[in-house]
Amino acid sequence: MDAIRIYGGKSLDGQTVVQGSKNASLPILAATLLIEGTCEIENCPDISDVRHMQKLLESLGCRLEREGTLVRVNTLGFSAHDMPSDSVGVMRSSLILAGALLAKTGQICMEYPGGCVIGARPIDLHLKSLRLMGASIEESESGFCAEAARLRGAVLHLPFVSVGATENLILAAVLADGETVIEPAAREPEIGALCEFLRLAGARIKGAGTGRLVIQGVEKLSPVRYRVPADRIVAGTYLCACMCAGGRIFLKDAPVSHMESVLACAESMGASIVCEADGLLVAGRAHESVCDVVRTACYPGFPTDMQSPFMVAMALSGRAGRIEENVFENRFRVVSELCRMGADITVRGNVAYVGGGPLHGAIVQAQELRGGAALVIAALAADGTSIVTNRHYIDRGYEDIVSSLRALGADLELA
Ligand code: UD1
Repeated sequence: MDAIRIYGGKSLDGQTVVQGSKNASLPILAATLLIEGTCEIENCPDISDVRHMQKLLESLGCRLEREGTLVRVNTLGFSAHDMPSDSVGVMRSSLILAGALLAKTGQICMEYPGGCVIGARPIDLHLKSLRLMGASIEESESGFCAEAARLRGAVLHLPFVSVGATENLILAAVLADGETVIEPAAREPEIGALCEFLRLAGARIKGAGTGRLVIQGVEKLSPVRYRVPADRIVAGTYLCACMCAGGRIFLKDAPVSHMESVLACAESMGASIVCEADGLLVAGRAHESVCDVVRTACYPGFPTDMQSPFMVAMALSGRAGRIEENVFENRFRVVSELCRMGADITVRGNVAYVGGGPLHGAIVQAQELRGGAALVIAALAADGTSIVTNRHYIDRGYEDIVSSLRALGADLELA
């Protein structure tokens, strides 16, 4: 039962509510560690990455309960002990607990984190910056131990933008002694959400959404209730499903103001997009590729997480194009599987050259989260039946992709 069977060739018609953002929920859950008492996180998606984070927090003595999309985190029982390495191992964002835990307990040992296999994903920026904030860190083959009686503010000049490092350092800095400057800071909307959550709790953060964050450490943060914004990547995935399968769908709550580069690209590929007050109306199929080059970049550029779904739309659009991956060095693992469905894609370095043409059903294997979702989308548009195996990768980030796509009129089931 770790697969999805998809009956392709049916155009979409329907609506679905876009779930809360994975990449915002994870650092916000980590941030609750810095707050004594009970925080309430609304619109928190019930996906396996979030469940892993919940398990990690529980293993540290926090009490968590879920009521629908609301997650309550009570940190009063927190006590520092080792986290289960199986959870740290599977999810890269468990690394985000490093900054918060170090700030809270002064001492932490952690195995190197895992996550989707989309590149080397080193953690040098995280460790170097924590050292500059006064942590002494010892690395071994399997992980690292860090110690700091109290972290102190520092000017952190990063060599390039990293979402995870920015988040980790924000969490390390909000309770640190003095001022921390992070530059260049990632500008992703999920960083904005984390900063907003922390500000509501009493943190002093300036510059959220810009490339320069200035954080003044405070003594204490207080419990808050916060609503996680909708997931722009999930919304973009379903938008792409419509571009591939054709039809007309409404994505309720889609965070359109955070999807500019994706919407522009979709429109130039022939989709009709209407931004409404409560969501996004998408109609039509990708048919002409004015957008014949997609270049991934940090926000507000085209998100790397959207690259695989758009590769499918590009392949189906009937005109050749290319995708340049500039964030991760190994994010083309989906290509070989798409080729098994009849796509004509060649990878040279960080560029995928995508030829146009129809796709046919096949048994294909998800190898990571967004690539897995892209295979499901490809199967919706393909001629015949497909099976996408390794569904667990997709479950990391999509609450119930089968039900959501069924609500949009697709024909698919668990297999
Ligand atoms: C986050 C997102 C992920 C998204 C990515 C880029 C979460 C949970 N994940 O991942 O969905 O695709 O941002 O938008 O929010 N790097 C280093 N050294 C470091 C840190 C990063 O070399 O210490 C490199 C990475 O290998 C990668 C690049 O920097 O090539 C960007 O990584 P980063 O922005 O940190 O991505 P994540 O936070 O892992």
